[in-house]
Amino acid sequence: MKKILFPALLIIVSVYSRAQDAKMDAFINSLMSKMTVDEKIGQLNLVTPGGAVTGSVVSKDVDDKIRKGQVGGLFGITGPDKVRQAQDIAVKNSRLHIPLIFGLDVIHGHRTIFPIPLGLSCSWDTALIRRSAGIAADEATADGLNWAFSPMVDIARDPRWGRISEGSGEDPFLGSQIAASMVKGYQGSDYKSTHTLMACVKHFALYGAAEAGRDYNTVDMSRIRMYEYYLPPYKAAVDAGVGSVMSSFNEIDAVPATGNKWLLTDLLRKQWGFKGLVVSDYTSVSEMINHGMGDIQTVSTLALNAGLDMDMVSEGMLNTVKKSLAEGKTTQKQIDDACRRILEAKYKLGLFDDPYRYMDNSRPGKEILTASTRKAAREIAVHAFVLLKNDNQLLPLKRSGTIALVGPLADSKRNMLGTWSVSGDPDKSVSLREGIGNVAGDVNIIYAKGANISDDPMLVKRTNVFGPEITVDTRTPSDMIKEAVDAANKADVVVAALGEAADMTGEASSRSDISIPESQENLLKALLQTGKPVVLVLFNGRPLTLTYEDGHVPAILDAWFAGTEAGNAIADVLFGNYNPSGKITASFPRSVGQIPVYYNHKHTGRPYNGEDNAKFKSDYLDVANDPLYPFGYGLSYTNFSYSDVKLNKTSLKGNEPLMATVTVTNTGKYAGEETVQLYISDPVASVTRSVEDLKGFQKVMLQPGQSKDVTFTITTNELKFYNSDLKYDWEAGQFFVRIGTNSRDVKSAEINWAK
Ligand code: BGC
Repeated sequence: MKKILFPALLIIVSVYSRAQDAKMDAFINSLMSKMTVDEKIGQLNLVTPGGAVTGSVVSKDVDDKIRKGQVGGLFGITGPDKVRQAQDIAVKNSRLHIPLIFGLDVIHGHRTIFPIPLGLSCSWDTALIRRSAGIAADEATADGLNWAFSPMVDIARDPRWGRISEGSGEDPFLGSQIAASMVKGYQGSDYKSTHTLMACVKHFALYGAAEAGRDYNTVDMSRIRMYEYYLPPYKAAVDAGVGSVMSSFNEIDAVPATGNKWLLTDLLRKQWGFKGLVVSDYTSVSEMINHGMGDIQTVSTLALNAGLDMDMVSEGMLNTVKKSLAEGKTTQKQIDDACRRILEAKYKLGLFDDPYRYMDNSRPGKEILTASTRKAAREIAVHAFVLLKNDNQLLPLKRSGTIALVGPLADSKRNMLGTWSVSGDPDKSVSLREGIGNVAGDVNIIYAKGANISDDPMLVKRTNVFGPEITVDTRTPSDMIKEAVDAANKADVVVAALGEAADMTGEASSRSDISIPESQENLLKALLQTGKPVVLVLFNGRPLTLTYEDGHVPAILDAWFAGTEAGNAIADVLFGNYNPSGKITASFPRSVGQIPVYYNHKHTGRPYNGEDNAKFKSDYLDVANDPLYPFGYGLSYTNFSYSDVKLNKTSLKGNEPLMATVTVTNTGKYAGEETVQLYISDPVASVTRSVEDLKGFQKVMLQPGQSKDVTFTITTNELKFYNSDLKYDWEAGQFFVRIGTNSRDVKSAEINWAK
């Protein structure tokens, strides 16, 4: 019965959606037949009247432009009333009454803030991440918005780059799954519901590979690397039905992405079949002047002809496209296609039925930052934390005795939200000090700030552009340290809350030194000298260099920037209400000199195998090759043991599946969740392959003493790679199936797979 029903259902759905498309086409055809060229070009213009902006340029005379039909969408404002004011002008005072779309950077939550995306990715929990995006969509739509500039899916192998915090780390397999879940979380099954919105995958493409980790810098990469490692998450978002794509700031093959026809038309639309709208990044159209691509008319035409539909803030399209049309530099069709795609997005959002459908004043009070969204934020946040070290089971902490809570991030609300939390209210966030107070029960807490986040005036000034994240104390560093040491001496255990301020990562926040700032290192050393056990709770938006800390501090919990409920969630983990299960998604280097260091690197012709006094090998004289903490690494309060890998076959042919099983046992005292990871290594091929690639993962919850079999079904799909002709296929031969707790600690089994 099922066998008949399912295809029948598919036919009904496809007939229905074709009828819907025909209805939309008829509506838009009729509307466009009434539009002047100026009005069509007006739709291509995306403006911001200010608010949360990320560039030096802010749009002028916004109301007047809306009235004249020179604006297609607006971003940077929130709240049903403000959004309604702008929509009123478009709908009541412009000639054709075309509604605006309203976008914003809803990145890791809207008003209720979740952990930064890099932290969320450490949960390896796509359902959880989807849930966070769903809540963000609820809140954002209650706030008048219908377009989120998220997910950001740029693969990043360079922790100097501040925007590594906004993505899901270095792996394309995990990154793709997260990208798809976020799109589904934001858009639901159809973004016409008033509780879902249109997502925008960004930054297309390769933005995470900026040279030297410096933001907005040049990117140069082989096609094989691009296809194999950098493009998959964008493609996954497109396959998940994302409604819009944002072009990136960087160049690709010496043409900026925003004006790159190969990228925006040949790859995105023709190869991948993307049908939605493409928006530029903030002034990335006019920035092509600085890239050396010509004047504003030339670059705006380049962008339009390349397949860009909407110009964010530059107004290059608004001011020059008509001239280019008259001069034969672009075509009416090019303008019509771009305009149509923007109108289609508005149609799909239901704005032509009701332009005010997202402006319901009764919603914010009921739906924004409620007890239930806060509860969800706390539940979600605990999954993001990564236990990097826990000697002698120092954690979880006991709910008795005295704790010295020390460090410049211990009593900070502002820094809890992390970067890109433009609508989050820091006053509503829970500091670690408050969280410990809420969770610890009968514990005596002595608090001391101990140090400023940094004493470097330049770093302080540049970090504080959005507000006082680094507050500089009037006391001297030694007075502050002394107070902290006195507190430590009176305590049974020290909890040191150290790391970065929220905006030491994020856009335009690259660092060349990614260690904990010196002021805090001095504090940490003084605390360790007291001989008291120290738990380091780290706040960071990127992998840091922690070689000293790893060598000297007994317990390290990476809490990233965990959002509105940060303090409660961290305390939940510190006191064992939740056993940490996060696994890092970007390798932590031992030193900046190793960067880029990532797990899925290639072999070299002169591999270094750890031998002493090796010469003429691919290594460093002064540091090991491998990272301090490898991709996929993260501890638990309990221990998990892995059996050898059991295979149903060791020789396979063609399409038959391989079943690879490990038995995972919880050998410790606490119930805990483990992320079992599958890597495949292809030692010989027609092109050089990486040492291994993640091809699967499963999460298992195990009670103390409990064992479970975890089976991965592997097909030839998992063996495929891009060859020199950019053909995605597999080659027969030997493979290694590796299963383990992180990318370094795996059990391996050999197979042969014939065509
Ligand atoms: C960022 C984008 C963001 C846009 C709008 C740009 O500077 O690169 O990620 O969506 O600003 O705020």
